[in-house]
Amino acid sequence: MSNVIAVVNHKGGSGKTTTAINLAAGLIRYSDITSSCLIIDMDPHGCATSTLLGKLDGEPPARSVFDVLRRAITPQDGITTTVYDEEIHLLPSNPSLESMAKTQITDRLEKVVSQLAPHYGWIIIDTPSNLGVLTQNALVAANYALVTTPCTGMAVPTLRHVRQLIDRITERQNTWLQILGVLITLKDGRTPLLRNVKKEMNQIFDRSEIFKTIITNNIKIEEAPANFQSIFAYDSGCLGASLYRDWIKKEFLKRHAKLEKKRLEEREQAAAELAAAMAEEMESEE
Ligand SMILES: Nc1ncnc2c1ncn2[C@@H]1O[C@H](COP(=O)(O)OP(=O)(O)O)[C@@H](O)[C@H]1O
Ligand SMILES: [Mg+2]
Repeated sequence: MSNVIAVVNHKGGSGKTTTAINLAAGLIRYSDITSSCLIIDMDPHGCATSTLLGKLDGEPPARSVFDVLRRAITPQDGITTTVYDEEIHLLPSNPSLESMAKTQITDRLEKVVSQLAPHYGWIIIDTPSNLGVLTQNALVAANYALVTTPCTGMAVPTLRHVRQLIDRITERQNTWLQILGVLITLKDGRTPLLRNVKKEMNQIFDRSEIFKTIITNNIKIEEAPANFQSIFAYDSGCLGASLYRDWIKKEFLKRHAKLEKKRLEEREQAAAELAAAMAEEMESEE
């Protein structure tokens, strides 16, 4: 199974961190893949790290993904437990991660993830609000890109850039990267989805790539991280919890299973083509 998901969008406040954390909590509850979930916080601001460790303004963790990326410690030594759930582990962020953003190194996280993947059912990578080296590392390491976006006219041009980066990385560095989908977040529940915004979104992402569930603005979703809980633990009966639950159970898991099947078929076909080409070459040498 390929279960490494990078949550991306360079627009700040588009629901990346909120979705990464609630997705992890939902997968622990609703996915058949039983082993635990790792969150990798690639954002130097460390919002996911703060809430998952239960301290909103404490010192950043002494050991972080930065130490792992600069090879000062092993990936396993960077991992810590969280206050959210014993099955949700964290490779925390640290502000020093910013210094890596100034380099050209985009494949370092991939090596870390490949070492950790056998130990986790799911790995979710939260990314900073830019399309720089840290987000690129996440996309090179991931099997799937999950884009979160508010549904406003202003958000559409950013989506175009996200799409271009995903396509570039798929072409050059990570052939097997697939778009899991686009999740619309933070919508004001009272206003209808603007038809022209939707139309523009459909020019950037295929209609089938945009999830039907919309995570509307919900105060409980905002309150939960300050209480160091996922939306399911904070108030499992609230609208925010039922939206995230519906999305995970009815769309996310089904789409993941479908794309996994496609990935397997494509890999088998690629292997068969390679074998045929090698056989042909050997024949012509004889
Ligand atoms: N559906 C929602 N309803 C209400 N507040 C939300 C919702 N999703 C996210 N938020 C809040 O919006 C802010 C930005 O979300 P966040 O997930 O941190 O975005 P990003 O990681 O893309 O910068 C946070 O304060 C978060 O609690
Ligand atoms: Mg964030």
